[in-house]
Amino acid sequence: MRRFVILGQSAVADADFSIEDIPGTSGRLDVLLRCLRAGLMFSHGIRQDTIVYLCLLGGPRGPRTLRFEGATARFLRPDERNLGALVRKILAPDARPGPGFVPVRHGVALAESGVEAVLDDLHGATPYIVEEGAPDIRAATIDATSCAFFLGDHAGFAANAREELGRRGAAALGLGPVSMHAEDAIAVVVNELDRRDRGA
Ligand SMILES: C[S@@+](CC[C@H](N)C(=O)[O-])C[C@H]1O[C@@H](n2cnc3c(N)ncnc32)[C@H](O)[C@@H]1O
Repeated sequence: MRRFVILGQSAVADADFSIEDIPGTSGRLDVLLRCLRAGLMFSHGIRQDTIVYLCLLGGPRGPRTLRFEGATARFLRPDERNLGALVRKILAPDARPGPGFVPVRHGVALAESGVEAVLDDLHGATPYIVEEGAPDIRAATIDATSCAFFLGDHAGFAANAREELGRRGAAALGLGPVSMHAEDAIAVVVNELDRRDRGA
């Protein structure tokens, strides 16, 4: 199982944003929506072997985390507007009990906490931090059967989250010399895993 975790430092964790202007009203939830598409979808399909977590750490309702499971997700469309509308519906209800993941739709669950909820949900997956300047993924040994890749948003990683991942023994992986958008970084990791899976 592949897991991708995107830490949205300012992404709002409530429905108080406009579908007409997601980048301008949601603390850059648009970045996370594009990451969701890049991690979970391929052309005309959903990746059954992938789980994507969107950590929404901003706004008055944050932190909250959305979990999308490719194996059970239904009716997901790749465009940002549709994904934004789905997230908005899910975030509309008020508090849910407990810090763990609570199912809210087919293949989608919500937790009332941030990266801690993800760390408790890894089921033994090997954690990796995807960050600029780290040793190149092309030369790295990756536990492709059960891996969890943590990425920052447009602002990178908050120092405390980066430290916590380090304490958990996460190895850092780099993707080359250029700073990419987070969704492009996910596409590179996905492609690397696809190639390794197929011996290409
Ligand atoms: C737009 S970048 C963040 C840039 C931000 N200014 C920073 O200092 O980290 C978003 C995320 O994509 C990933 N990323 C982008 N380019 C990368 C690269 N060349 N190597 C590894 N990770 C990269 C990292 O997880 C990063 O936090």
